[in-house]
Amino acid sequence: MKRNWIIGAAVSLTMLGTATAVMAGFGEDREATMKEVGKSMKALAEIAKGAAYDDAIVEQNTTAMATAFEKFGTLFPAGSETASKAASPDIWANMEDFNTLRTNAQTAALKVQTSGQDGFKAAFGELAATCKACHTKYRLAD
Ligand code: HEC
Repeated sequence: MKRNWIIGAAVSLTMLGTATAVMAGFGEDREATMKEVGKSMKALAEIAKGAAYDDAIVEQNTTAMATAFEKFGTLFPAGSETASKAASPDIWANMEDFNTLRTNAQTAALKVQTSGQDGFKAAFGELAATCKACHTKYRLAD
């Protein structure tokens, strides 16, 4: 009986360790996904600041960004509240609002894609505003 208890306790500890590792993975994925978004934003900002308009660069970075925002929505399951320091606990209390801000950003990225050279600056400005809208509410200083 005692042996069974020890084995049981060892199995539980292993499962707990796995669950913790899985949750930590969500935190790492959040950072990596936002870093991708940041990288794409930087490439678009170059154009906004005066670099030559390049369809391929716009297409590539807005597509990457829209994909990243899609993925970002899967990285906040219940139980992962403490997996990263910069994600506010308010996210879990306001998941619907958080997801609205996320899809707003995704839509804005795709609008930059279709804006064309003449509409680029205005669409880029709108996209930048969607980053700020979410960060002010749900991103903590890390
Ligand atoms: C729906 C909410 C939301 C939107 C929209 C959003 N972010 Fe974030 N962002 C976050 C959160 C939450 C974090 C903190 C992630 C973490 O570490 O858990 C973050 C972190 C970041 C980071 C830091 C990544 C790191 O750890 O190094 C960058 C860079 C970033 N965001 C860029 C952007 C840019 C650029 C946009 C707009 C194009 C944007 N974000 C839009 C929520 C958002």
